[in-house]
Amino acid sequence: MTNPQRRPLIAGNWKMNLCLKGSVALVRALADGLSKPFEGPEILVVPPFTALSVVSEALKGSPIQLGGQNLHWEEKGAFTGEISPEHLKDAGCTHVLIGHSERRQYFGETDATVNKRLKAALKAGLVPVVCIGETLAERESQKTYRVLETQTTGALQGLQAADLKTLVIAYEPVWAIGTGKNATPEQAQEVHLFIRKLLAHLSSETIAREVRIIYGGSVKPDNIELLAAQEDIDGALVGGASLSAESFIKIVNGVKKG
Ligand code: 13P
Repeated sequence: MTNPQRRPLIAGNWKMNLCLKGSVALVRALADGLSKPFEGPEILVVPPFTALSVVSEALKGSPIQLGGQNLHWEEKGAFTGEISPEHLKDAGCTHVLIGHSERRQYFGETDATVNKRLKAALKAGLVPVVCIGETLAERESQKTYRVLETQTTGALQGLQAADLKTLVIAYEPVWAIGTGKNATPEQAQEVHLFIRKLLAHLSSETIAREVRIIYGGSVKPDNIELLAAQEDIDGALVGGASLSAESFIKIVNGVKKG
């Protein structure tokens, strides 16, 4: 991360883990464990929907921000089981994950629905963290770049250049998620550079320089430093290691200031 225009972001995606008590305990431990005054990367936690309000309350006065794991594109109505942009904002969220590979794999998420969610998030003033990534089979059959190009163009369809500025892209190779096998810093850098060039092509060089592209997939305290030192890696989306205050703080502290 060498571009001062992009402040690194470390986000913890808790997925379907922790209930209220555990969620509050975790964010309290995080807030207590950060150096004060805190001058490191931007920090985001992304708990399950049910914990958003209590976590938001517990985070008051700390630099840690709050995100939802998904959102629906409609503002309200008969969409049983869905969460609207307004629900997220009402619960204290500033960010939202969109198109996580687990949603693509298990819940029928497509590039078209990612695009709708992304537009809804931007309209509501939420910072979207759009996830893209190839499977192992796609990587092994040399389709990585084609897949990422399709996912990125599909997600960004119809967006204006100004919209792209607030966007965060999370490159999460599916084969690295929850497997303990992270992409090497060089592998990840190569892909991040590809995504940045694609963004330049889809918008402009200036915008592409400003968009943060973070890496996710088995990020741990012992690999964050080398990953985050890569020129086009602007932070991390952390799963398993974000469920322990100790390891998440080590990851936060492993990132140099932007
Ligand atoms: P792990 O860090 O557990 O591999 O999960 C990554 C991820 O999917 C974050 O969104």
